[in-house]
Amino acid sequence: MIQMSRPTFGPEEESAVLAVLRSGHFAQGERVREFERAFAMSTGAEYAVATSSGTAALFLALRGHGVGPGDEVITSPMTFIATANAIVHAGAVPVFADVDVSLGLSVPAVARLIGPRTRAVVPVHLHGNPCDLSPLIELAARHGVAVIQDACQAVGAEVGGRPLGSHGTAVYSFYATKNLTTGEGGMVTSNDPQVADLCAALRHQAYAGPGYVHDRVGYNFRMTEMQAAIGLVQLGRLSAITERRRRIASFYDEAIGGDQFTRPATVPDACHVYHQYTLRLTAVDGGAREERDGIRASLAQAGVGTGVYYPVPVHRQPAYERYARSRCPDAERASDDMFSIPVHHALSDAEVETVAQAVAAL
Ligand SMILES: Cc1ncc(COP(=O)(O)O)c(C=O)c1O
Repeated sequence: MIQMSRPTFGPEEESAVLAVLRSGHFAQGERVREFERAFAMSTGAEYAVATSSGTAALFLALRGHGVGPGDEVITSPMTFIATANAIVHAGAVPVFADVDVSLGLSVPAVARLIGPRTRAVVPVHLHGNPCDLSPLIELAARHGVAVIQDACQAVGAEVGGRPLGSHGTAVYSFYATKNLTTGEGGMVTSNDPQVADLCAALRHQAYAGPGYVHDRVGYNFRMTEMQAAIGLVQLGRLSAITERRRRIASFYDEAIGGDQFTRPATVPDACHVYHQYTLRLTAVDGGAREERDGIRASLAQAGVGTGVYYPVPVHRQPAYERYARSRCPDAERASDDMFSIPVHHALSDAEVETVAQAVAAL
C-alpha cells in the first residue's frame, strides 16, 4: 500500500541527535535558539519561539495576542480539531466561519461574524494551500482584531510572493507527518517583539530571571535539544522537500485530468507546499460521501492509500456542539466530497505513476 506519509530521517538527523546525547544538554538550550533563529529567517519573520507542539504554539500565540476569557476568535471549521481546542484552552469562544473555494476562510463570512467581542481571526492554511491573507488582514485591521495564522500544515508556503511569517504571527507544527518534522514540536513566529516575548516567557513557566522569580502563571511547552537538532537538519532540506512535493503535484495536475474532479483553488502568487494533494468530486447531487468512500475503497484495492482531511468539520464535532452557532454548508460539502492522495516527498517516481494511473483509471 502506498501510504499517505512516510516520515524519513537519514544519517544527518542520526548524527545530529547523537551529538546532543553526547553533549549532556537535552532541554531547551543553544540548539533550540539556533533552530529559532534559522526558522525565523526562513519564514520571513523577526522572531521565533520553539514549542513542544503546534497546539502549544497556537495556544501561546493566542495568549501572546491577549486572547482570553470573554473573547471570541473566528476560525475555520475545516481544520484539525487542535485549532479550536487551543482557542478554548485560551479561555475564548471559537466562532466558525465558512470556507471558500480554496477551503480557507471565506473573507465575507468572517466579515459577517466580526463583532464587539472578536479579538482574533485564525485562518488555516489547509493542506499547505495559503489563504488569501491580504483582504483578511485588511478586514481585521479595520476592526482592531489580530490575525494569527494556523500554518501548522504550511511550513515553507508563501503568499503575495512572500513567506507566511512576513505577513504577521503564524504557528507551525512539526508533528511526524508534517513536511518538516521533529517527531513532535511546534513554533510561533511573529514580527511583534511583545508577542514573541510573552510566548517565550509563558512557554517556560513565565520564568522572569535568576532566583526562580515568576511574574505570571506559565506552562512547560519547551522544545528539547534533540528535537531542535533534527529540526535544523530538516530545515536545511526544506526547499528540496517543497520542490519535490510541488513537482509531484504538477504531475498529478497533468495526469489526473477529466471532468470527474476539481481541486481547491489557489491564490495567485502563492506557493502551495502540498502537505496534502486534494481532489473533490465534481457535481454530485447528493450521496457524495458514499461515492467518495467508494472511490477510496477502489484506490485501496489498487494499493493506493488515501485520506480525508477532514471528514467532520469542527462545528459538527460532538465536543463543539455548544459552539456551533451557524451552519457552514461549504465546509460540510467539502467534508463529503474531498479526499487526498499520497504526495509526500519520500514517494518514488514509480509510486507517483502508480497513484496517478489508479486515479485516472477510476
Ligand atoms: C491545521 C492544524 N492545526 C494545529 C495542529 C496541531 O499541531 P500539533 O499536532 O503539533 O499539536 C495541526 C497538526 O496536526 C494541524 O494540522
